[in-house]
Amino acid sequence: MSNPFVDAISEQVSKATGLESGQVADLLEIPPNPDMGDYALPCFTLAKTMRKAPNLIAEELSDQVEVGGTITEVKPAGPYLNFFVSKSDLVTGTMARVLAEGEQYGRSKVGEGKTIVVDFSSPNIAKPFTIGHLRTTAIGNSLVRIHEALGWKVVGVNYLGDWGAPHGMNIAAYKAWGDEDKVRQNPPYELFNLYVKFNAEVESDPSLTESAQAWTRNLEAGDEEALTLWKWFREETIEDFKRVYRRMGVEFSDYSGESLYHEPSTRLVEKLTEDGLAVESEGALVVKFDDDMTPAVLQTSHGTIVYLGRDLCAAADRKARYDFDKMLYVVGAEQTLHFKQLFRTLKMMGHDWADNCAHVPFGLINFKGMKMSTRKGNVIFLEEVLDRAVELTHEIIEEKNPDLSNKDQVAKDVGIGAIIYADLDSRRTRDVVFEWEEILNFTGETGPYIQYTHARYCSVLRKFEQTIPPEDVDLSLLSEPEAVAVVKCLDDYPKKIEQSAENHEPSQIATYLIDLCTEANRFYTACRVVSEDEALTRARVTLVYAIKTVLKSGLGLLGMKAPEEM
Ligand code: ARG
Repeated sequence: MSNPFVDAISEQVSKATGLESGQVADLLEIPPNPDMGDYALPCFTLAKTMRKAPNLIAEELSDQVEVGGTITEVKPAGPYLNFFVSKSDLVTGTMARVLAEGEQYGRSKVGEGKTIVVDFSSPNIAKPFTIGHLRTTAIGNSLVRIHEALGWKVVGVNYLGDWGAPHGMNIAAYKAWGDEDKVRQNPPYELFNLYVKFNAEVESDPSLTESAQAWTRNLEAGDEEALTLWKWFREETIEDFKRVYRRMGVEFSDYSGESLYHEPSTRLVEKLTEDGLAVESEGALVVKFDDDMTPAVLQTSHGTIVYLGRDLCAAADRKARYDFDKMLYVVGAEQTLHFKQLFRTLKMMGHDWADNCAHVPFGLINFKGMKMSTRKGNVIFLEEVLDRAVELTHEIIEEKNPDLSNKDQVAKDVGIGAIIYADLDSRRTRDVVFEWEEILNFTGETGPYIQYTHARYCSVLRKFEQTIPPEDVDLSLLSEPEAVAVVKCLDDYPKKIEQSAENHEPSQIATYLIDLCTEANRFYTACRVVSEDEALTRARVTLVYAIKTVLKSGLGLLGMKAPEEM
């Protein structure tokens, strides 16, 4: 359903400027302060085509745009043209849309017929899931959900780091000290212990390095024992990863991995060498670029094909399989050069679709109050973090709401939700610092705060013993400024989803939800929802229902649960 105000404004501006109304609609923004207007047209982008300063354009347009109908006032303000619309139209129009669409409100079909591949999480196997892969998992999962909401066909790919030198090392360590029963009991943790032991011993025993290299070569050459062990480690680890994903509510369309592309990459490197794209440099094979970008290594001087070679094959394979319109790689900022080289090389190979591939980088994560133990090789396992979050949430619930009936489930939903939210709430390129007290705070700008607000409105609705949403509502009764402000916020939701997809920024949904909670709570404090006045009660209950519906939907887009009681 389209937004009638945006339509009316776009139509007027389109008449005055000759721009297409769809283009105008995309430009419209919601001013930060409602006193400035309900919608704003930033005139910067028009300046180029109209060859005039943006503030002049705003001035001129303000005379040309007709006021009347739903548009009540037009005012230039510097480079912006601000529009005021009829508050009662705004409230009734927006509320009618939320009511008609219910849980579907905000979702759209803009992506219909298009396919997007999202490469995310992609941990390295033969060790437990560490917090090193938490951010890509949370951000990627949210981008999957956001694109699904916009009608895209989404293929979520987990591209496991399951090939190369670390796996030779794992085999060498297992052969040196491994105990089959122990590995069976606790696969990735035991394999990781062996790996840590290997790294500790290797300094005093150089023969270990040789052994690891030999096992890597065996593995690449298809040696049976090497392959059998590698497969076993791989399968056991994937099982373990799946447990973590289930806890986090994350699913993939496809489990892929580097190992699938070992053979094809050998052939590809040969082909690139024949075509003159790969050239020798100090015994290695590299791709050189025509500017100052660092040459990309495809094959080391020992003849081993590296990460990039496999990524080239994987990209082409995905194009062949899914014929995607867009592909995202949700991977830390430290791999920026790798992805630049990947996309450039694909282009040089004649794959113009490389222009539709994007690296979605993010900053580092830092946990305060979780000690990294050197015995474990300086890592924090994600499961420990999830366990701790659930345990701490349990304690909070025990204190705040000891009679809650399904405490265990709520502690899981809120504890894990808190971790996910903390990961998504600031722009993804920023580094994230985790501090338990901060991320679990029920009143701060946190996941639990949004979930708590949602649960609180659920409880308001439970107390209203009539059909939800109420029938026979006079929406024009929602006239207090606090109510209008919430409705405006609801009106903004569909656009927020589109923007967060365009910018690959789940944080836009995350901050939107905080804003919605703030406005909603202001309304709740200022206006008594249930009163003697039945018509007013029905109107306000309807607003509460709309708020609750959008909060739940938004939490879902972030990959979080929305418990009804907490
Ligand atoms: N396994 C890699 C890592 O942990 C991430 C892989 C990302 N995806 C890709 N196609 N390169 O750093």
